[in-house]
Amino acid sequence: MMLCELTIEGFRNLRQVALELSPGVTLFWGRNAQGKTNVLEAVHYVATGRSFRTRYDRECLPWDSEGPAVARIEARIERGGVAHHLAISLTERAKFAWLDGKALGRLGDLLGHLMVVVFTPDDIGLAAGSPVLRRRYMDMALAQVSPIYLAHLQSYVEALRQRNTALRTADSSLQADGTGGLDVWAERLVAHGVEISLARRSAIGELAMLARELYGQIAPSDGPLVLEYRSGSGIGGNDDRFAAAERFRARLLESAAIERARRQTGIGPHRDDFILRIGGKDVRYYGSQGQQRSAALALRLAEVKWMSHKTGESPLLLADDLGVELDSERRQRLLALFRTGVQTLATTAGDPEILGPLIGADRAIEVHAGRLHCGAEVEKQRTNRPMGREAGQKNI
Ligand SMILES: Nc1ncnc2c1ncn2[C@@H]1O[C@H](COP(=O)(O)OP(=O)(O)OP(=O)(O)O)[C@@H](O)[C@H]1O
Ligand SMILES: [Mg+2]
Repeated sequence: MMLCELTIEGFRNLRQVALELSPGVTLFWGRNAQGKTNVLEAVHYVATGRSFRTRYDRECLPWDSEGPAVARIEARIERGGVAHHLAISLTERAKFAWLDGKALGRLGDLLGHLMVVVFTPDDIGLAAGSPVLRRRYMDMALAQVSPIYLAHLQSYVEALRQRNTALRTADSSLQADGTGGLDVWAERLVAHGVEISLARRSAIGELAMLARELYGQIAPSDGPLVLEYRSGSGIGGNDDRFAAAERFRARLLESAAIERARRQTGIGPHRDDFILRIGGKDVRYYGSQGQQRSAALALRLAEVKWMSHKTGESPLLLADDLGVELDSERRQRLLALFRTGVQTLATTAGDPEILGPLIGADRAIEVHAGRLHCGAEVEKQRTNRPMGREAGQKNI
């Protein structure tokens, strides 16, 4: 899969950007606050219909627009040797998307045509932060490779919303039917939730092997990185679909009184998580910042490989702000992992001449005041060059 051409109009500070892209690594460089992350965000937006920085679309509209603000992003992509065209436009009131000129009915229909994996400094949260971030990680990987997973997820979220509303208002639809069964919403949670949990359990099993290998390359002297799926619906490690449904149902029945008192559904895949351990120790509590960052990168690169295995197409890797605070040995090994052959768009506020060769950049583009300046190609150089100041470190 490849992003061949990108046009951006009126997205944050990017007024008009048109760019042809090559298959390798493109490095966007420049001072702080010029629009580097905005470029990656725009690519993510056309690929998924959402920003990776905010839940509020209007933040992406240019604030200095003279008329009504409109953002439009178009991408010409190639998938399985066939060219496609994706487009999305956003106004204060609405968001529209097109695939090959045909308007899409649902935003979810965009997903999977241009698969993306984003790596940002905030990803340290994958190892150190709340379960929400790890659930989003599982969902983004799975939803982009499986429209069926996405459909179950959307149905589950809707059933959960409706059940929680019913719990809040003590709606009569929650009354037990006298047969000791579950309420109608809970049955829907079970039907979709089991599919979600089984898909996540299996994905984490596969991602764990990839992440362990990648982590070993970044930090060979640390113990192995291990991932363990934790089900919020009580599903066991070997449960089949039937056993999983029974267990989830039983947990919902057990907690029915508590849920009614708390007016909230407390059991289900919306409480899923996975634990990361290095050398047997939970990374969240015992990992150093460097270990947490390395584990997060291993998870992201594992996601790239996993999506490639699942679909036979590599996703586009969007790597924001490379060169963060790691010791130089670890950083060199880590940056070397970006030479994966996967199409990558990376950004740095550091020196592109230092970072470029380390990540095998084919091209460096300066971003200045929302405009792109395509200068000389970065010399392809595979040998390590002496490090001057911290390459890629934020110069804020
Ligand atoms: N809605 C918006 N409309 C116009 N400009 C915006 C909007 N949102 C953000 N900006 C501006 O976009 C600029 C650049 O943002 P971006 O996050 O891409 O910078 P960057 O080059 O990645 O910088 P850094 O190196 O600090 O990460 C900032 O000056 C910010 O004020
Ligand atoms: Mg940035």
